[in-house]
Amino acid sequence: MSEGRPGRVLVTEEQLTQRVRELGEEVSADYADREVLVVGVLKGAVLFIADFIRHLTVPCELDFMAVASYGGQTHSSGVVRILKDLDHPIAGKHVLLVEDIIDSGLTLSYLMRNLASRQPASLEICTLLTKPGHRRLSTQPKYVGFDLPDEFVVGYGLDHAERFRNLPHIATLELQDP
Ligand code: IMP
Ligand code: MG
Repeated sequence: MSEGRPGRVLVTEEQLTQRVRELGEEVSADYADREVLVVGVLKGAVLFIADFIRHLTVPCELDFMAVASYGGQTHSSGVVRILKDLDHPIAGKHVLLVEDIIDSGLTLSYLMRNLASRQPASLEICTLLTKPGHRRLSTQPKYVGFDLPDEFVVGYGLDHAERFRNLPHIATLELQDP
Protein backbone atom coordinates (compact mmCIF):
# COMPACT_ATOMS: atom_id res chain seq x y z
CA MET A 1 0.00 0.00 0.00
CA SER A 2 1.28 3.45 -0.90
CA GLU A 3 1.90 6.07 1.75
CA GLY A 4 -0.08 9.27 1.48
CA ARG A 5 -0.27 12.65 3.12
CA PRO A 6 -2.87 15.44 3.12
CA GLY A 7 -2.52 17.89 0.23
CA ARG A 8 -4.70 20.84 -0.79
CA VAL A 9 -7.58 21.87 1.45
CA LEU A 10 -10.83 21.50 -0.51
CA VAL A 11 -13.28 22.37 2.28
CA THR A 12 -12.21 24.51 5.23
CA GLU A 13 -13.27 24.07 8.83
CA GLU A 14 -15.39 27.24 8.58
CA GLN A 15 -17.17 25.99 5.45
CA LEU A 16 -17.89 22.67 7.17
CA THR A 17 -19.26 24.37 10.27
CA GLN A 18 -21.61 26.58 8.26
CA ARG A 19 -22.85 23.91 5.85
CA VAL A 20 -23.42 21.30 8.56
CA ARG A 21 -25.53 23.83 10.46
CA GLU A 22 -27.56 24.55 7.29
CA LEU A 23 -28.16 20.84 6.70
CA GLY A 24 -29.36 20.42 10.29
CA GLU A 25 -31.75 23.33 9.91
CA GLU A 26 -33.05 22.04 6.57
CA VAL A 27 -33.67 18.55 7.93
CA SER A 28 -35.34 19.97 11.07
CA ALA A 29 -37.75 21.97 8.88
CA ASP A 30 -38.55 19.00 6.63
CA TYR A 31 -39.13 16.62 9.55
CA ALA A 32 -41.20 19.01 11.67
CA ASP A 33 -43.71 16.98 13.74
CA ARG A 34 -41.87 13.74 12.99
CA GLU A 35 -39.23 11.84 14.89
CA VAL A 36 -36.18 11.05 12.82
CA LEU A 37 -33.97 8.01 13.18
CA VAL A 38 -30.48 8.99 12.11
CA VAL A 39 -28.62 5.95 10.81
CA GLY A 40 -24.92 6.61 10.64
CA VAL A 41 -22.43 4.67 8.62
CA LEU A 42 -19.25 3.99 10.57
CA LYS A 43 -16.63 5.16 10.76
CA GLY A 44 -16.27 7.97 8.26
CA ALA A 45 -19.55 9.73 9.04
CA VAL A 46 -18.96 9.98 12.79
CA LEU A 47 -17.56 13.50 12.94
CA PHE A 48 -20.22 14.81 10.56
CA ILE A 49 -23.05 13.14 12.49
CA ALA A 50 -21.84 14.42 15.85
CA ASP A 51 -21.93 18.00 14.55
CA PHE A 52 -25.07 17.56 12.42
CA ILE A 53 -27.40 16.21 15.11
CA ARG A 54 -26.58 19.16 17.38
CA HIS A 55 -28.50 21.29 14.87
CA LEU A 56 -31.60 19.06 14.82
CA THR A 57 -34.56 20.61 16.61
CA VAL A 58 -36.85 17.59 16.01
CA PRO A 59 -36.76 14.51 18.27
CA CYS A 60 -34.10 12.14 17.03
CA GLU A 61 -32.72 8.69 17.67
CA LEU A 62 -29.28 7.54 16.58
CA ASP A 63 -28.13 4.13 15.42
CA PHE A 64 -25.08 2.93 13.52
CA MET A 65 -24.08 0.42 10.90
CA ALA A 66 -20.58 -0.50 9.91
CA VAL A 67 -19.85 -1.69 6.41
CA ALA A 68 -16.61 -2.36 4.60
CA SER A 69 -16.14 -1.42 0.97
CA TYR A 70 -12.55 -0.19 0.88
CA GLY A 71 -9.37 -1.64 2.35
CA GLY A 72 -6.24 0.45 2.12
CA GLN A 73 -7.13 1.13 -1.53
CA THR A 74 -8.47 4.34 -2.99
CA HIS A 75 -10.89 2.56 -5.34
CA SER A 76 -14.11 0.71 -4.57
CA SER A 77 -13.70 -3.03 -4.26
CA GLY A 78 -17.32 -3.51 -5.26
CA VAL A 79 -17.78 -5.70 -2.21
CA VAL A 80 -19.90 -4.47 0.69
CA ARG A 81 -19.91 -6.40 3.93
CA ILE A 82 -21.98 -5.57 7.04
CA LEU A 83 -19.55 -5.52 9.97
CA LYS A 84 -22.09 -4.16 12.47
CA ASP A 85 -25.86 -4.07 12.01
CA LEU A 86 -28.37 -1.66 13.60
CA ASP A 87 -29.21 -2.28 17.26
CA HIS A 88 -32.98 -1.94 16.71
CA PRO A 89 -35.66 -2.57 14.05
CA ILE A 90 -36.56 0.42 11.86
CA ALA A 91 -40.07 -0.62 10.74
CA GLY A 92 -42.42 2.39 10.80
CA LYS A 93 -39.61 4.88 11.49
CA HIS A 94 -38.51 7.89 9.49
CA VAL A 95 -34.97 6.89 8.65
CA LEU A 96 -32.30 9.34 7.53
CA LEU A 97 -29.21 7.52 6.33
CA VAL A 98 -26.18 9.73 6.95
CA GLU A 99 -23.03 9.11 4.91
CA ASP A 100 -19.66 10.79 4.75
CA ILE A 101 -19.14 10.53 1.01
CA ILE A 102 -20.75 8.95 -2.04
CA ASP A 103 -18.26 7.97 -4.69
CA SER A 104 -19.30 5.06 -6.91
CA GLY A 105 -22.46 4.69 -4.84
CA LEU A 106 -21.94 0.94 -4.46
CA THR A 107 -22.09 1.16 -0.68
CA LEU A 108 -25.15 3.35 -0.75
CA SER A 109 -27.10 1.23 -3.25
CA TYR A 110 -26.49 -1.80 -1.11
CA LEU A 111 -27.50 -0.02 2.11
CA MET A 112 -30.63 1.49 0.58
CA ARG A 113 -31.85 -1.89 -0.66
CA ASN A 114 -31.06 -3.45 2.68
CA LEU A 115 -32.79 -0.73 4.77
CA ALA A 116 -35.80 -0.41 2.44
CA SER A 117 -36.53 -4.11 2.93
CA ARG A 118 -37.01 -3.46 6.67
CA GLN A 119 -40.16 -1.39 6.03
CA PRO A 120 -39.29 2.07 7.36
CA ALA A 121 -42.03 4.74 7.15
CA SER A 122 -39.64 6.82 5.04
CA LEU A 123 -36.02 6.59 3.96
CA GLU A 124 -33.83 9.48 2.80
CA ILE A 125 -30.12 10.06 2.37
CA CYS A 126 -27.98 12.85 3.75
CA THR A 127 -24.35 12.89 2.67
CA LEU A 128 -21.69 15.40 3.54
CA LEU A 129 -19.83 14.91 0.26
CA THR A 130 -20.39 13.55 -3.23
CA LYS A 131 -18.07 12.81 -6.10
CA PRO A 132 -19.20 12.91 -9.75
CA GLY A 133 -19.63 9.12 -10.02
CA HIS A 134 -22.79 9.16 -7.93
CA ARG A 135 -24.82 10.79 -10.72
CA ARG A 136 -25.22 7.35 -12.31
CA LEU A 137 -27.20 6.20 -9.27
CA SER A 138 -30.92 5.54 -9.33
CA THR A 139 -31.26 6.73 -5.71
CA GLN A 140 -30.11 10.32 -5.26
CA PRO A 141 -29.31 11.84 -1.87
CA LYS A 142 -31.91 14.38 -0.72
CA TYR A 143 -29.37 16.34 1.34
CA VAL A 144 -25.83 17.05 0.11
CA GLY A 145 -23.18 19.15 1.83
CA PHE A 146 -20.60 19.64 -0.92
CA ASP A 147 -20.04 18.29 -4.44
CA LEU A 148 -16.36 17.47 -4.86
CA PRO A 149 -14.24 16.77 -7.94
CA ASP A 150 -13.15 13.19 -8.57
CA GLU A 151 -10.23 13.13 -6.12
CA PHE A 152 -9.57 11.01 -3.08
CA VAL A 153 -9.99 13.10 0.07
CA VAL A 154 -9.23 12.78 3.77
CA GLY A 155 -10.17 14.58 6.98
CA TYR A 156 -13.28 15.32 9.06
CA GLY A 157 -13.85 11.58 9.52
CA LEU A 158 -12.57 10.39 6.14
CA ASP A 159 -9.49 8.24 6.15
CA HIS A 160 -6.79 6.76 4.03
CA ALA A 161 -5.82 3.41 5.57
CA GLU A 162 -7.42 4.63 8.85
CA ARG A 163 -5.33 7.80 9.05
CA PHE A 164 -6.22 11.50 8.88
CA ARG A 165 -9.78 11.16 10.23
CA ASN A 166 -8.88 13.79 12.85
CA LEU A 167 -8.17 16.65 10.42
CA PRO A 168 -10.67 19.49 10.98
CA HIS A 169 -11.01 20.13 7.22
CA ILE A 170 -11.29 18.11 3.98
CA ALA A 171 -8.05 17.81 2.01
CA THR A 172 -6.88 15.89 -1.04
CA LEU A 173 -4.59 12.91 -0.53
CA GLU A 174 -1.16 13.16 -2.08
CA LEU A 175 0.25 9.76 -2.86
CA GLN A 176 4.01 9.47 -2.73
CA ASP A 177 5.69 7.44 -5.43
CA PRO A 178 7.10 4.19 -4.11
P1 IMP B 1 -18.61 4.16 -2.77
O1 IMP B 1 -19.19 2.79 -2.49
O2 IMP B 1 -17.65 4.16 -3.92
O3 IMP B 1 -19.69 5.22 -2.94
O4 IMP B 1 -17.72 4.54 -1.52
C1 IMP B 1 -18.28 4.54 -0.27
C2 IMP B 1 -17.32 4.64 0.87
O5 IMP B 1 -15.95 4.62 0.46
C3 IMP B 1 -17.49 5.95 1.60
O6 IMP B 1 -18.53 5.88 2.54
C4 IMP B 1 -16.13 6.13 2.23
O7 IMP B 1 -16.05 5.44 3.43
C5 IMP B 1 -15.20 5.53 1.21
N1 IMP B 1 -14.68 6.57 0.31
C6 IMP B 1 -15.06 6.88 -0.95
N2 IMP B 1 -14.36 7.91 -1.45
C7 IMP B 1 -13.51 8.29 -0.47
C8 IMP B 1 -12.51 9.34 -0.36
O8 IMP B 1 -12.27 10.15 -1.26
N3 IMP B 1 -11.85 9.39 0.83
C9 IMP B 1 -12.07 8.54 1.87
N4 IMP B 1 -13.00 7.57 1.81
C10 IMP B 1 -13.70 7.44 0.66
MG1 MG C 1 -18.15 5.45 4.61
